[in-house]
Amino acid sequence: MKFVYQGKTKDVYSLEDGNYLLKFKDDVTGEDGIFDPGANTVGLQIEGAGKAGLRLTKFFFEILQEKGIPTHYVSANVDAAEMIVKPAKIFGHGLEVICRYRAVGSFLRRYGKYTVEGQELDAFVEVTLKDDERQDPPISADALNMLGILSLSEYEELKNLTQIISGIVKDELKKRNIDLYDIKLEFGRTEQSNEIMLIDEISGGNMRAYKDGVYIEPLELEKMLVEQM
Ligand SMILES: Nc1ncnc2c1ncn2[C@@H]1O[C@H](COP(=O)(O)OP(=O)(O)OP(=O)(O)O)[C@@H](O)[C@H]1O
Ligand SMILES: [Mg+2]
Repeated sequence: MKFVYQGKTKDVYSLEDGNYLLKFKDDVTGEDGIFDPGANTVGLQIEGAGKAGLRLTKFFFEILQEKGIPTHYVSANVDAAEMIVKPAKIFGHGLEVICRYRAVGSFLRRYGKYTVEGQELDAFVEVTLKDDERQDPPISADALNMLGILSLSEYEELKNLTQIISGIVKDELKKRNIDLYDIKLEFGRTEQSNEIMLIDEISGGNMRAYKDGVYIEPLELEKMLVEQM
C-alpha cells in the first residue's frame, strides 16, 4: 500500500492491484469548532465521524451501483473505515459540483440581494474549483471550456449526472421525511476509457439535510438513514 495524498477528511493510498484505498478520518470541516460542510479547514474532530461518513457513502454508492450509474465504488469496510475505489483522473486540480434545491449556504451569501433563505431551487447545478487559497470560486461552463478543464459537452454530461444522482439521494431522504437542501459531488474520468464517473464520498459532510425545517447534523443524518436498515 502506497501513500498518495493526505486530504482534510480522508487519506488516499494506492494498492498493488491499481485500485485506491480511501481511509476515512474523524476530522470534519468547519471553523472554530462548528461543523460547516462548505468550509475549507478541518474545524474539529468527532469520534466515529469517519465510520459514519463511510457507512452513508457505502449506502448511497450501492444504490447508485444498482441503478447502473458510473462511480468509482468497488467495496467498503466500515469497521476499518476503508473504502476501495477505482482511481480517477480528476478535472484540472479538482472540481466540486453542487446541486441545490433550496437557497442556503454560499448561494444565499452570494445572491442574498435576489433570494431569501430557503427559497426553492429546481435542482440548480453550479461548479466550483477546488482551490482552498481562493475559497473554491464558482466557475461557468464557458470558463471551464476556455481554460481546458471541461469541454461544453462534458459539462452537460456532468450536469445531467449531477441532477440524476442528487435526485436519487433526495428521494432516498424523502422516504424518511428528510429534505435535501443541497449536495456537493465530485467527478473524475476513468483511467482507461475517460468515462465520467462519480468519485469521493456521499455523506452528511457533503450535504445539507433538514427535517421539518430543522438542520440535521451529519452524524445524526447517518443514524436516521442507515441504522434503521
Ligand atoms: N477515485 C478517486 N481517484 C482519485 N482521487 C480521488 C478519488 N476519490 C476521491 N479522490 C480524492 O481524494 C481526496 C480525498 O480527501 P478529502 O476528502 O479529505 O479531500 P480534500 O480535498 O482535502 O477535502 P475537501 O473534500 O474538503 O475539499 C480528494 O482530493 C478527492 O478528490
Ligand atoms: Mg473531500
